[in-house]
Amino acid sequence: LEEKDAVEVARCPHAASRAHSLDAIPGPTNWPLVGSLVELLRKGGLTRQHEALVDYHKKFGKIFRLKLGSFESVNIGAPCLLEALYRKEGSYPQRLEIKPWTAYRDLRDEAYGLLILEGEDWQRVRSAFQQKLMKPTEVVKLDRKINEVLVDFVSRIGKTNVSGKIEDLYFELNKWSFETICLVLYDKRFGLLQERVNEEAMNFITAVKTMMSTFGMMMVTPVELHKGLNTKTWQDHTAAWDRIFSTAKVYIDRKLKRNADRDPDDLIGDILHQSNLSKKELYAAITELQIGGVETTANSMLWAIFNLSRNPGAQRKLLEEIRAVVAPGEDPCGEHLKSMPYLKACLKESMRLSPSVPFTSRTLDKDTVLGDYAIPKGTVLMINFHALGSNEEYFDDRTQFKPERWLRENCSINPFAHVPFGIGKRMCIGRRLAELQLQLAMCWLVRDYEIVATDNEPLDVIHSGLLVPSRELPVAFIKR
Ligand code: HEM
Repeated sequence: LEEKDAVEVARCPHAASRAHSLDAIPGPTNWPLVGSLVELLRKGGLTRQHEALVDYHKKFGKIFRLKLGSFESVNIGAPCLLEALYRKEGSYPQRLEIKPWTAYRDLRDEAYGLLILEGEDWQRVRSAFQQKLMKPTEVVKLDRKINEVLVDFVSRIGKTNVSGKIEDLYFELNKWSFETICLVLYDKRFGLLQERVNEEAMNFITAVKTMMSTFGMMMVTPVELHKGLNTKTWQDHTAAWDRIFSTAKVYIDRKLKRNADRDPDDLIGDILHQSNLSKKELYAAITELQIGGVETTANSMLWAIFNLSRNPGAQRKLLEEIRAVVAPGEDPCGEHLKSMPYLKACLKESMRLSPSVPFTSRTLDKDTVLGDYAIPKGTVLMINFHALGSNEEYFDDRTQFKPERWLRENCSINPFAHVPFGIGKRMCIGRRLAELQLQLAMCWLVRDYEIVATDNEPLDVIHSGLLVPSRELPVAFIKR
């Protein structure tokens, strides 16, 4: 071991003094060809994989090896291992390749965006967006745009509910976050929250949905095969991307043209103005910001609504904070959020208890020692946030919604135990924007409505790309 690595190993309280090889990492039964696929199917299949991962961490500890068909990964679920990974990160961390997306871009000669770029190209695009998009003092200036959409959203909740219940709340939230991100990125209102949604907006949102629902299949079966056989999945996927790109390009072109006519007056305008990226790169980067930002934000809001409905005490406390900070007749804005620690704690706790994204991945670009093991270059690591947040070792009363845990004077929660936006140089670039949007939405909603639980039955969670409830959310919105 290099001396540097020995120090890292010593930092981890669970580490042995000598690193073992990859083969020594424990894991579930590894049958020839299928690996643990059959076992996983017995545990409830891919839609229950988040639960299976929690079980495996309970059984094998902080690190285990998993083989599903031809896909092999090392799973980590302990803050000390995440910290070790973070400290050893190279300049261009890599995630697992999303082959169906890269295949489409190569087919149409389009560029890659941040979700799929690698190496120096990734860093170039990332740094063009990073400075503004990850800086709280810059992002907070978007509060006016976020509020413009929230006014419509809150009033729509008042109009569309029948005795407080909203039909397909998740779809409504997706429309809200879609409308917001489009206003931020393209400076354009799509009108998704209107009574009659226009056709263009509906086609766009449907295309994103189709693209998302067709790529999963091509992650577990070879995309070359789909392409070669021109399967329906491949055709639908390609047609969906065609529509997404053609629509996004129109709006990006309009924005670039406006920029050429006058000084940019918003964050994205500034980025477009200052970056040296080609038009092709901008199309891909902006389109992927949109893809990355819509359902994740809607999903986190859905879970925040659910958790507040089941915890009226916390909701009451939050309302008190909102009323103390936002004067009657005033609109909640970015400035108010500075004085709202309880609101931020509620969001954090909701994202711990009900994370939207259960894990992220890294493909190691060099041999790396993590805890007891020396893991070779090329290994795929899965970083299991969901398993971390539901581990009693890091969060007492782990099943309880307790925002207070984040406020304690000497909050002893290890920062690497709560990473819903990922870690290191490749963490979510939309994090600040998402937090602002969610915190403002919680402010507007809780101020105007009491969110009540319409039943107290347990709510099953399934994995379908993100973690989603298995049934319509049992909540109602009662006007205050
Ligand atoms: C990456 C979560 C909102 C754009 C990620 C990653 C996670 C994540 C876990 C992977 C990070 C890693 O591998 O370490 C979330 C959640 C959101 C959210 C939970 C909402 C609550 C957004 C928004 C945008 C966005 C609003 C766009 C403005 C992206 C992009 C990446 C990413 C482009 C890839 C970054 C890179 O590789 O450089 N997000 N995200 N996300 N997210 Fe988000």
